[in-house]
Amino acid sequence: MKKPTIVTTRPLHPENVARALRACAKVVVAKDRPDFERQIAKADAIITYVDDPVAAPLLSKAPSLRVVGNYAVGVNNIDLRTCARRGIPVVNTPDVLTRATAELTLALLLAAARRLPEGEQMCRRNQFKGWAPDMLLGQELEGRRALLVGKGRIGSETAKLFRGIGLKVDWITRKDTASEIAKKLRQAQILSLHIPLNEDNYHWLNAERIRLLPRECIVLNSSRGPLIDERALIDALKNRRIFAAGLDVYEHEPKIPAGLKRLPNVVLLPHLGSATARAREGMALMVVQGVLEVLGGKRPRNQVDFDLDLYGP
Ligand code: GLV
Repeated sequence: MKKPTIVTTRPLHPENVARALRACAKVVVAKDRPDFERQIAKADAIITYVDDPVAAPLLSKAPSLRVVGNYAVGVNNIDLRTCARRGIPVVNTPDVLTRATAELTLALLLAAARRLPEGEQMCRRNQFKGWAPDMLLGQELEGRRALLVGKGRIGSETAKLFRGIGLKVDWITRKDTASEIAKKLRQAQILSLHIPLNEDNYHWLNAERIRLLPRECIVLNSSRGPLIDERALIDALKNRRIFAAGLDVYEHEPKIPAGLKRLPNVVLLPHLGSATARAREGMALMVVQGVLEVLGGKRPRNQVDFDLDLYGP
């Protein structure tokens, strides 16, 4: 039987999974974006990543495409409507990265609360001249109120970790009205975003909502950058209208605005949510398995539900 052609934008990691894939498919790794756009013409499947836009014009160049495999749980880089219209299933990588992303969110929180970036800089720049009782005083977290936006897999796992360090957890879900959201934001000492990016929640955290947050609030984002109006956040951090932020994602990734980089009260990470060896191997296996199952005529468990309730239960 002829092997299916899978076109991708980078070599699959880790190599043991890539090798297994090559055994059952012809894998074409595009040299660059124009090459990807050319090679897609003969693709039975594509494997894409968070930074690969898969929009209608690209899909129109792929007449024999039967499945899109996204090596990520977020699928905001993919035009799901066009895929649904064309009957092209999309598979992603839920579950396997839940713990890694929740742990990273906790790391962001601890780093922001205890001002770790400022302490780090001080050490690296030889500015640590000795212990002082008032040096870099941060926040103790026990008993603080954390507000999590989104009660899906990653939000729920993050809540478990937050409770483990003594935080009180409350949620914003899709069912909350505008006034309920406003009331919760006014009490949020920690605000952590765990919703997927879609048309409804672009700039979910906008200037108006930021203004409701208390001064001691720490804002965390390990989901997608455009959920936050970055300019409004910079303004609030600069004017100390909130205490700090911990960010793993950015509005125009990989660009990080200079205004953000200049601020001492923000922890900046380069989209590391799922960056553990365990999670990445799980993601590779899951995307490969999902793609091969669709090509083999099955419905994989990691097939994206086009009508998904995007906020989770
Ligand atoms: C990473 O950001 C992912 O969505 O998996």
